[in-house]
Amino acid sequence: MHKCKKTIQFKFSIIQMSHLDSLPVAVILLICNYLVKCHNDCPVPITRQEWNASAPLSNRTLRENPPPFVVVHHSATKSCSTEEECKSLVKSIQRFHMVDNRWDDIGYTFLIGGDGRVYEGRGWNRHGAHVVKYNARSLGICLLGDFQDVDPPHVQVEVLKKFIECAQRNNRITEKYHLIGHRQGSVTLCPGDKLFDVIKTWPHFDENPM
Ligand SMILES: *[C@@H]1O[C@H](CO)[C@@H](O)[C@H](O)[C@H]1NC(C)=O
Ligand SMILES: *[C@@H]1O[C@H](CO)[C@@H](O)[C@H](O)[C@H]1NC(C)=O
Repeated sequence: MHKCKKTIQFKFSIIQMSHLDSLPVAVILLICNYLVKCHNDCPVPITRQEWNASAPLSNRTLRENPPPFVVVHHSATKSCSTEEECKSLVKSIQRFHMVDNRWDDIGYTFLIGGDGRVYEGRGWNRHGAHVVKYNARSLGICLLGDFQDVDPPHVQVEVLKKFIECAQRNNRITEKYHLIGHRQGSVTLCPGDKLFDVIKTWPHFDENPM
C-alpha cells in the first residue's frame, strides 16, 4: 500500500490432540500467526524526480509555516490504479497547470493516487496554487479522480487520513489544523460531493473556516 519498514513476528501455539483411531496419538500443531507490523507507517511520497516533474518556475514559500489549513481537492479527471498510470496522470496535471493555466508549477502540495501512493506536488512549505484564499497558509492535497458521483476508493481515503495524521505529528501542519474542502474557499464542486461527505465526518473538519 505504501512504503514502510516491516518486521514479521511469529507466534507459536501448541495444541495437543489424542485418540486418533485407537492409538493415542499426540499431534502437535504449530500455529503460526504472523503479524506484519508497519513501524514508521507514514506514507513516503513518490518524489518529483520519480514522476519526471518539470522544474518549478518559483520556489515561493508559505506565509505561515507550519500551515493551519489542510485543503482537500479532487482532480476531476480520470482516476489511476497503478504507479505508472498515476505518475503519468500527475505529469499531465502539471503540464495542464503550467502550460494551459500558466502557473509556476503543479498547483497542489501533494496528490494521492488510486494506487494508494502519495505523489509530491510542490512539496512541503511551498506556496500553492489551489485555492486563492488559502494558498499562502495551507497544505493542498488532491485525490486523483472525480468524486462528485463516485465514492473515493477506501485505500485512497485511508492514505489521505494517514498522511494528514503524520503531517500533524511531524509538525508539517499546526496541531489544531483546520480541515476543509476546496468548495469552502471558492465556487466549485471540488472535492466532489462524495469525497466532501467523507472529510466532513473527520474531527478537524471546520464548517465555517476563516
Ligand atoms: C520527462 O519530461 C520531459 C519534459 O516534460 C519529457 O521531454 C521527457 O520525455 C520525460 N521523460 C520521461 C522518461 O518520461
Ligand atoms: C528553486 O530552487 C532550486 C534548488 O535550490 C534551484 O535550483 C532553482 O533554480 C530555484 N528556482 C527558481 C525559479 O528560483
